[in-house]
Amino acid sequence: MSDFFRIKLPTLRSRNSGLRWLAVFSLGLFAFVSCRPDDDGNSGGTAPSPEARLCESSDHAGTPYDFDVPFFFPQPQLPGDNPMTEEGVELGRHLFWDKKLSRNNAVSCGSCHFPGAAFSDNAQFSTGLYGEQTDRNSMALVNLAWVNTGFFWDGRAVTLEEQILEPVEHPVEMDLTWREAVERLEEDPEYQDMYAAAFGSPCVDSVRTVKAIAQFIRTMVSHRSKFDKWRYYGEAMLSSAEFRGMELFLAEGGEPDVIPGGQGGGDCFHCHGGDLVLFSDNIFRNNGLDSVFTDIGRALVTGSEFDRGLFRTPTLRNIALTAPYMHDGRFATLEEVIDHYDMAGHPSPTIDPMMKLQGIGLQLSPQDKADLVAFLHTLTDEEFVENEAFHDPH
Ligand code: HEC
Ligand code: HEC
Repeated sequence: MSDFFRIKLPTLRSRNSGLRWLAVFSLGLFAFVSCRPDDDGNSGGTAPSPEARLCESSDHAGTPYDFDVPFFFPQPQLPGDNPMTEEGVELGRHLFWDKKLSRNNAVSCGSCHFPGAAFSDNAQFSTGLYGEQTDRNSMALVNLAWVNTGFFWDGRAVTLEEQILEPVEHPVEMDLTWREAVERLEEDPEYQDMYAAAFGSPCVDSVRTVKAIAQFIRTMVSHRSKFDKWRYYGEAMLSSAEFRGMELFLAEGGEPDVIPGGQGGGDCFHCHGGDLVLFSDNIFRNNGLDSVFTDIGRALVTGSEFDRGLFRTPTLRNIALTAPYMHDGRFATLEEVIDHYDMAGHPSPTIDPMMKLQGIGLQLSPQDKADLVAFLHTLTDEEFVENEAFHDPH
């Protein structure tokens, strides 16, 4: 199929499967635009990028990927319209690490999401293709197959596939229109073979491309940290400091003589997963970083006053590798993070009810703080970050 379609992709906020909608819509458009040559990037001079031409189908070919869910994890909700295949995952890995997806061939996805930082970045803000900085801290790509509340710190992309549409065209990150990206990939014989193996024909489009990258990212499962080896696999021991840190993680904040039910703990479990599996509930919350917001977070998506200053609670798996911390990378160390929670956050109308000790604080001792940090370090999964299957294949 050689006709180009010039249509506007659905906005990132659209509900349900924007990609499926896109495919259906494009078929409808076929009758109207297929006769027009695709000579420039501006449909009628008005439609903004992103634009893409679509392959006839993005049905899957190849060998079904055996998604091995760790026995103590819940079942992930994988999308029905993007079944994983060995070939799709491998294609996604090549694309993830390919600098061709940036205009000047300077950055790949992996430039801001690299193994040593658990597939995030160790800079407060990441540097894009022209040396400019992103306006938020890069996010770790860990167990995203289990995230179903929306992607990015503010959840503005409903699906992982939608999320991946954004960085390629982002003017600071990769600055390439999807139309140009597709042309580049199509010129590469190796990709022709890989698209054919994953989708049944060598045709390249944005839908197939984001599907393959999403398949790859969903394979990035971390479940073999020291903590897991202790709790689930019976292969390791925690030190007494690490064990005590876990107890503090799971204990209510506030001393019992001050707060009824208080256990003098760190109170982390309310938001970061008391079941000790995913280490996040992935819910949008304000953990009290500011009284006045420079980035209103979730409210940018919903427009709601109640969502001002809320960000998606991140997983704490591999957290010792992903410094600096928070959506704006404001804390350089885990010690600073613990100090923040110890003072119980800055008051604001939207601060989470679980940040309940304002003006009192958790009152953690230096030993408590050190033990909490020791526990967080047990969540580092060396096998995950060293897994060659996630590394640059080039
Ligand atoms: C220049 C640095 C940079 C590049 C290049 C980049 N990212 Fe990111 N990525 C970020 C930042 C910063 C965020 C958080 C942005 C936000 O929340 O507004 C992010 C967020 C994400 C998320 C959301 C994770 C979550 O838990 O919600 C995913 C997934 C992701 N990026 C994948 C990719 C992929 C795939 C590519 C390549 C197509 C890519 N990134 C390229 C910096 C980058
Ligand atoms: C009220 C819910 C809540 C509680 C309680 C809570 N957190 Fe968080 N945590 C969050 C949210 C939300 C974020 C992201 C905030 C942001 O970036 O704006 C976060 C971020 C973090 C980060 C940085 C993650 C990253 O990728 O940058 C760490 C580390 C962390 N929390 C550890 C803890 C620990 C340890 C405790 C207990 C002492 C705790 N949290 C208690 C909700 C909570």
